[in-house]
Amino acid sequence: MQFTIAIDGPAAAGKGTISKAVAAHFGFAHLDTGLLYRAVGAKTLDGTDPVLAAKALIAQDLDGDALRTPEVAQAASKVAVIAEVRAALVDFQRAFARRLGGAVLDGRDIGTVICPNAEAKLFVTASAEVRAERRYLELKNKGLDITLAQVLADVKERDARDMDRAEAPLKPAVDATMIDTSDLSIEAAVLQAVAAIDAARNSGTEA
Ligand code: CDP
Repeated sequence: MQFTIAIDGPAAAGKGTISKAVAAHFGFAHLDTGLLYRAVGAKTLDGTDPVLAAKALIAQDLDGDALRTPEVAQAASKVAVIAEVRAALVDFQRAFARRLGGAVLDGRDIGTVICPNAEAKLFVTASAEVRAERRYLELKNKGLDITLAQVLADVKERDARDMDRAEAPLKPAVDATMIDTSDLSIEAAVLQAVAAIDAARNSGTEA
């Protein structure tokens, strides 16, 4: 059985949390595609060429909390504008999406570019203030010395770069179900996501 769930949205919208919960609910594998760009971005901080880094990426590069820092997030969104970097990462993502047993991929361009034929597509969003607050608490809990204002500025800067780029810009697929998590608990957001995916599964059965 092949079934791809594409979950896109801006920085810190709750894609990761929803994706993990949805993957567990349906028993599907999950790929956080942001980690690919974060791993490439992290390598450029050591001076490595981003295109070479993307071409040489291996599974171990995706491990570790070091990829979750704001500095690496910024580096990720800078390498993510480079067409050759994105091209180097396409095959891996598409192969993952079509693995047997079902797959959930979350990112920015999954429903639009990587898997335009995904069986279910969600676009998860929330106000910039709510997203910054959530990310701030996450980073604080990890012991990072950071202010809410810095996190808000980081989120807005990355969103602007992600939406304005020529290559695979961040935008909802025309057939994506929108979920605004600004006023939703995690449980409520996951319930909405599961309901939308169930609807897509049932319509697939009838077709
Ligand atoms: O966790 P958060 O939403 O803050 O970011 P992420 O999903 O880890 O993505 C980090 C950066 O990678 C984003 O700001 C994008 O620039 C880039 N990215 C992308 O261009 N395409 C994807 N499919 C996933 C991430």
